[in-house]
Amino acid sequence: MPDKTILRALRGERQPIPPVWMMRQAGRYLPEYRATRAQAGDFLSLCYTPELAAEVTLQPIRRYGFDAAILFADILLIAQALGADLWFAQGEGPRLSTITTPADLARLKPVDAIDEVLSPVYETVRILSRELPRETTLIGFAGAPWTVATYMIAGRGTPDQGPAHALREADPATFDALIDLLVSATIEYLSAQVSAGAEVVKLFDSWAGSLKGEAFTRYALEPTRRIIAALKERYPGLPIIAFPREAGQGYVGFAKATGADCVALDNSVSADWAAANVQVDGCVQGNLAPGYMVTGGDELVAETKRIVQAFSGGPHIFNLGHGITPDADPDNVQRMLDAIRG
Ligand code: CP3
Repeated sequence: MPDKTILRALRGERQPIPPVWMMRQAGRYLPEYRATRAQAGDFLSLCYTPELAAEVTLQPIRRYGFDAAILFADILLIAQALGADLWFAQGEGPRLSTITTPADLARLKPVDAIDEVLSPVYETVRILSRELPRETTLIGFAGAPWTVATYMIAGRGTPDQGPAHALREADPATFDALIDLLVSATIEYLSAQVSAGAEVVKLFDSWAGSLKGEAFTRYALEPTRRIIAALKERYPGLPIIAFPREAGQGYVGFAKATGADCVALDNSVSADWAAANVQVDGCVQGNLAPGYMVTGGDELVAETKRIVQAFSGGPHIFNLGHGITPDADPDNVQRMLDAIRG
C-alpha cells in the first residue's frame, strides 16, 4: 500500500495534489459538532470523554475526507494536569488560576502526575487509531511552552501577552522554571500520545509572534528544539510540525534550528515569500486566510489555487493560516477542497 499522503509530504516529497487538513476542523461551524458538544454538556467534558472526543474528530473526516485528523483536545489541558484550575466561561474563552510567584509555581504538580488527568486523551487517540480510514493520518498535538505559559500567567487569553512578558522581565527565574516544567510535561504528554497511536505531532506556538530577537530564540525556538530532540530520541523518524505563529522572519531557518520536519505558516506571510525562504528547507503547511471560509466566492477558489501554485515546487500540506472560525460556511470548505483536488 502506498504511504499516506501527509507522511509523504513530511518526508519531503513534492506531490502534484497537496494533502490537506484544517486547523479547528472539528468545531462550531459544523452542526454535527454543535450537537455532540451539547450532548457532552460543556467543552471540557467533550475533551475528557473519549467516545465523544473521537466522534467530533471523525466528523470532518466523514464529511470532507481530509488527509489528516487532529486529535480533539485543547492546548490548555496540560495546565490543568499540572494543577492549575481551568474553566471556559461561556462566550469568553479560557480562564485559569494564575501563576505569578514562586509560591504559585511550587504548588503545581510534578510532571509524572499529568497522566492522571490526561489519560482520557490517550484513550481518544487509541479509539481514533482503530477507527480512522487507513489513508488518514492521525495528528497529536500540544501547545508550545511559551504559548501555554502566557495563559497560565495571565489566567486568560491576552491581546499582547503583557503579563507573561512582564514576568519574564521581572522574575526570569520563576518564568524559566515554568518554561522548563512545560518542556518536560510536553515531552511526556506527546510521548504518551505517540505510544497510543498518534503518527505525527504538532506544537502550537500561537503567540510566538510577540517574542522578538533574543527572546524569540530563547522562548519560542529553544523550548521547541528541546521537545523535538527528546521526542526524536524516543521515537526516531516521528514527523513533527512546528507552528511559531506570526514569527515573520523567524520562520526562516526555524525547521533546521529546531529539527522540525515541517513549519506551519500563518496567513500574514505571503506564499511566494515563504516558498522562496522557508520551503527551500523542507515541507511547509499553510496558509489560506480563514476569512475566505466565511466570504467564499470566486476569491476563495482563486486564492486557494494561488497558494497551491506558489508551493507547487516542493513539499506542501495545504491548511489555513489559523483555525476555521464558528461563522464559516461548511460549503466553503468543500469549495476549497474542490479547488485543490480538481
Ligand atoms: O484543531 C482541532 O480541530 C483540534 C482541536 C483543538 C482545539 N483547540 C479545540 C477547541 C486544537 C488543536 C486547539 C488548540 C488551541 N487551543 C490553541 C492553539 C491554536 C490557536 O487557535 O491558536 C489555543 C490558543 C487554544 C486555547 C483555546 N481553546 C482558546 C483561546 C479557546 C477559545 C476560543 C474559541 O475558539 O472559542 C479554546 C476553545 C476551543 N478549543 C474550542 C475548540 C473547538 C471552542 C470551544 C467550544 O466548542 O465552545
